[in-house]
Order: sequence, then structure tokens, then C-alpha cells
Amino acid sequence: MPAVGGIAPGSGKKEYPGNLTPYVTVTCVVAAMGGLIFGYDIGISGGVTSMDSFLRKFFPSVYWKKKEDSTTNQYCQYDSQKLTMFTSSLYLAALAASLVASWITRKFGRKLSMLFGGVLFCAGAIINGLAKAVWMLILGRILLGFGIGFANQSVPLYLSEMAPYRYRGALNIGFQLSITIGILVANILNYFFAKIHGGWGWRLSLGGAMVPALIITVGSLILPDTPNSMIERGRHEEARTKLRRVRGVYDVDEEFNDLVLASEESKKVEHPWKNLLQRKYRPQLTMAIAIPFFQQLTGINVIMFYAPVLFDTIGFGSQAALMSAVITGLVNVLATLVSIYGVDKWGRRFLFLEGGIQMLICQAVVAACIGAKFGVNGNPGELPKWYAIVVVLFICVYVAGFAWSWGPLGWLVPSEIFPLEIRSAAQSVNVSVNMLFTFIVAQVFLIMLCHLKFGLFLFFAFFVLMMSIFVYYFLPETKGIPIEEMTQVWKSHWYWSRYVADEDFPNGALEMGKGGQGPKNVRLSLNFPSLFSFFFCA
Ligand code: BGC
Repeated sequence: MPAVGGIAPGSGKKEYPGNLTPYVTVTCVVAAMGGLIFGYDIGISGGVTSMDSFLRKFFPSVYWKKKEDSTTNQYCQYDSQKLTMFTSSLYLAALAASLVASWITRKFGRKLSMLFGGVLFCAGAIINGLAKAVWMLILGRILLGFGIGFANQSVPLYLSEMAPYRYRGALNIGFQLSITIGILVANILNYFFAKIHGGWGWRLSLGGAMVPALIITVGSLILPDTPNSMIERGRHEEARTKLRRVRGVYDVDEEFNDLVLASEESKKVEHPWKNLLQRKYRPQLTMAIAIPFFQQLTGINVIMFYAPVLFDTIGFGSQAALMSAVITGLVNVLATLVSIYGVDKWGRRFLFLEGGIQMLICQAVVAACIGAKFGVNGNPGELPKWYAIVVVLFICVYVAGFAWSWGPLGWLVPSEIFPLEIRSAAQSVNVSVNMLFTFIVAQVFLIMLCHLKFGLFLFFAFFVLMMSIFVYYFLPETKGIPIEEMTQVWKSHWYWSRYVADEDFPNGALEMGKGGQGPKNVRLSLNFPSLFSFFFCA
């Protein structure tokens, strides 16, 4: 069995001085709020599409089908292309915007992309809140999508560059925490707005997106640029002063020099996109595609977008369904705190693998429960209360598993593994793939539910198994390694080392030589419980 875990602590890697200063903490907290817009939208769209007044106004055919069909096939009552297009149009817009954002983030800094994110999202929220026809809804969602594309491209990079490397995991997960808070707030608002007499509560839900949009807009105006980005744009002395302030120590020379070296390497690269295809970036490119792909194939957004619809389908009734979405939203936030606590202690791999096993078990149980009651014809008859409780409980345990593994790590890991010269472009690949598969899952979920029935949960369970095996063999541990030093994790990996030669990364090779530890001396370790070896090696 090859050692696949990565570099052991104390294996000669660099240690830059620096503290978790109040300055860097506040900066990262403000920047992380960029996740609110994404989260708010995820939570809102599922909720409004289960509000009768909203459906009656914009999607009357779905509304009437739902009313008339309540005694027949429950799996298919929401199946409408127009309705799914409403939810998923945003993701195509976000995909396109993240590609443009790559250029802006590289040329003008991370802050400008965040600002664009806030402003575009705000415009989308206004149009949606005032919508009179479906086209206004879709236009609004396209603008929201642009906003999310810009924000998701820049915020994770900003956080990973700003944070002292020992706390990078925790600070970066602030982004995911904001996403989950956004989802929860949206779920709670939906619950109350749905009760407003006159049925115009959905306007408040959609228009309310202006609040998180203003937060990121103002935040981006007051935040400092990252030292990495300042150096990338030739502002060296300013960057040195900023680095001192951010790290809270005077002697930042070693880190500063490495940032300058990284930036010089980066300057040689004229076409970051073409560059990405070079053999030496194969590990990073693979991760930029595989991680977001797998994150979406956990099936999490089936719960996030459609929890109310799903709970309604399994017989909860509209209000109870919205309430259950609030419960899963709360679990999502609390479990994210667990990963903030543990990510820099237990490492990324441990969380990925533990979360994977947890999700797998829950998906199997939920499939069995729904299968047992709804069978293949989708007609459950009378549903006992205990049954609903068991389903919600396992969905909550599943959400918790995601919230401390693939949720935060799907944004953290890509943002910390790309060298500066490809960072912006690779992060766009990450965001685009994420958005593409969010779109696909959102678009086909209702059709899949209609055809695969409870088997839908087994479909996602299969992918959860695949991604856990992938992580076990191919994802090295990145905890506690400065981002400009990250090449060493590939150089010492049993598989990826064949793609990365010393001369490919003069900076990384030099550093490792300086520490007196050539790559061959770097110790590999399997730093996660043998429980997992048992599962995957048997
Ligand atoms: C994912 C979203 C998901 C959210 C749930 C994020 O990391 O990218 O697609 O809806 O987590 O908390």
C-alpha cells in the first residue's frame, strides 16, 4: 500500500513568522461575508418555488398540476422545465462571469472582482423583487449569477492569500460559513414571508438579496488588497508594509521574498489559460475539475434548493416543509463550525473521508425509507409521524457530513493549491465546473426524481463512494503548508510526483534544498485514523 497522505509535519517545510492578528481576523471576517450572497440565493430559490402565490403568478401550470395531482404520483408533481430554468439559469451566468473575473482578479486585484460581485448581485435583487413577468425573473437571476461568479472567484483566493498559513483553513472556511448563514437566513425569511397575506411575500424574499449584496459591496471598498496581489501588480514596497501589518511582525522578509519570486515566475506566463494545460500543472488542473465536480455530485443541492419541495413531496405540507428547511439550514451552519475548529488540526483528508462515509450511510438510509413508503408508484398513503422524523434526522446527519467536509473544502483546497502564475485562471476553472454541475444537478433533479424515484439517492451515494476513493489515493494533505510552497506536496506524492520535476519549479526546489531536505527525504505519512485504511484497503 503506497503512503498517500502527504508530507508529515516537521518534514523540513518552511515556517514564516506571523500571528493571527486582530487586523487579519477582521479583514478575513469581512471578506468571508462575500459568501452571503451565494448562500442567500441558494436558500431563497428553493423556498419561493414552493410558495403557492409565486407559482400561481409565474408558473401556473406547475401550480395547477400540484393542486390536482396530490393523490397521484408524488415523485413527479414538480417536474417543470420552466421552473427548473428559473433556479438554474443563475449558474450558467455565474459560470460565464467567473471566466471574466479571472482576468480582472489577476490584472486589477481581488477587491475589484468582489466589488463587481456586490453591485451586479444588487441589481439582480432589485429586478427580481419588482418582477412582473417570468422574463424579469430570469434577467434578475442572470445578474445575480454574474455577481456570484465574481464573488466566488475572488473571495476564496483573497482569504487564502491573506491568512497566516497555519490558520488558513479556519479563515478560509469563513467563506463557507457565510454561505451557510446566507442559506439559513433565507430559509427563515421564506418561512415568515410565505405567511404574508396577499401572497406577495416572495417579493420580500427575492428583494431581500439586496442586503447581503450591500454588505459585500461596502466590504470590498474598505478591505485592503492582499500582499500577493499588490506584488503581482508591481507595488512591492506597499506590499511589504502591508505584509508586516497583516502578519503582525516586522521580519517578513522570507515570506516577502518568496512572494516576489512567485510573482516573477508568474510574470513569465503570458497566457495563464494555455499554461494551465502544461504537464507540470496536471495535479492542480485535475483538482480544479475533480473537486467541484465531486462537491456537486454529493447531491447537496438537491437538499439545499429543493428541501421544501422534497419535504412537501414526502408528505409534510407546505409550511412544515419550509420549517424542515430551516432545521437543515441550522445543522449546516453548526456543522461548518466543526470544520473551522478542526481543519487545521485534523487536516483536510480526515474531514473529506469522514464526511464521505457519513454521507454515504445517510443516503442509503434515506433511499431505503423513501423506497419503503413510496415504492415505485409514488403513492405513499398515510405517512406516520415517526417516519417523517426519521427521514429528516438522516437528512440532517447527511447535511452535517457535507458541511464539515466537501462544503468548505470544496472552496478551501482549490484556493490553496494553485501557484500564483495560474491561480486566477485555475480558480475560474474551479468556479465554472462548480457552477456547471450545480446547474446540471438543479436542472435534472426534478426529472430524475420523477424517473429514478428513491434510486436518486443511491445515484448520489455512488458518487460519494467514488470521491472518497479519489481523495484517499490522489489528494495530498495541504494542512500547514504555505501556499507559495505547495509544490512540495505534489513532488512527494506517490502518483503526482511523476508530473512535477525539480526544474519545473525553481522556487519550490530551491526552498526545499535550502532546508536541507530534498524531495526524496520528505517523509510521507498516513495521518488519518486506521479506520479509513480499513474501509478502503480491505
Ligand atoms: C456549495 C453549494 C452548496 C452549499 C451548501 C457550498 O460549498 O458550493 O453548492 O449549496 O455549499 O452549504
